[in-house]
Amino acid sequence: MDIQRILSCQKPLELLQEWIMEAQQASQISEPTAMILASASPQGEVTTRTLLLKELGPEGLIFYSNYQSEKGRQLAENPQASLHFYWDPLFRQVRIQGTVQKLSRQKSETYWRSRDRESQLSQWVSRQSEPLEEGKSLDQLVQEARNQHEGREVPCPKHWGGYLLKPELMEFWVGRPHRLHDRVRFLRQDQNLWKSQQLYP
Ligand SMILES: Cc1cc2nc3c(=O)[nH]c(=O)nc-3n(C[C@H](O)[C@H](O)[C@H](O)COP(=O)(O)O)c2cc1C
Repeated sequence: MDIQRILSCQKPLELLQEWIMEAQQASQISEPTAMILASASPQGEVTTRTLLLKELGPEGLIFYSNYQSEKGRQLAENPQASLHFYWDPLFRQVRIQGTVQKLSRQKSETYWRSRDRESQLSQWVSRQSEPLEEGKSLDQLVQEARNQHEGREVPCPKHWGGYLLKPELMEFWVGRPHRLHDRVRFLRQDQNLWKSQQLYP
């Protein structure tokens, strides 16, 4: 992609959508919406993990997780977070920084109902990021949950739901030969106005 086109872009979230669609069309990329989320405790301990982007809209990026997990605890105390995409065959990366907020209960539950039952059951039993008690197995816990909810909907746990990351900074990177890579950083000026700048690679 021509760097002038990136630099003149007014809506970097739409450019990200375009890049994700191109990653989805690249047959070698098995998880085109996989992204790394970095979060940090108020003391500055940084942690990362892979998540799937579930929705991209004019406000930002939406993903779902367990609010009591390690990431959930960090995000509750410190909403500053970063997301990172890298699509190897395309030699492109996108870096995003912003603040995270929880989605409304209604939106989280709507998404929960769209998930398949087995995923709901595994979320229901998961105390994500906690040590599994000795002698317990996930298969056994899921079987117990299956029995418990037989013939009924699996309710969305209160500690499970979505997050919206609202970007303040987005950086698009395109690999070029001889390390002359294109880097364009977008800084949000106000709700709908972004300023772009080329960076040294
Ligand atoms: C490809 C991939 C996709 C994943 N998607 C999610 C996801 O959407 N939500 C989630 O909570 N965990 C997801 N995970 C698991 C997380 O990487 C992580 O192990 C889990 O959320 C616990 O993280 P934490 O202990 O840092 O909170 C995914 C892992 C991989 C490898």
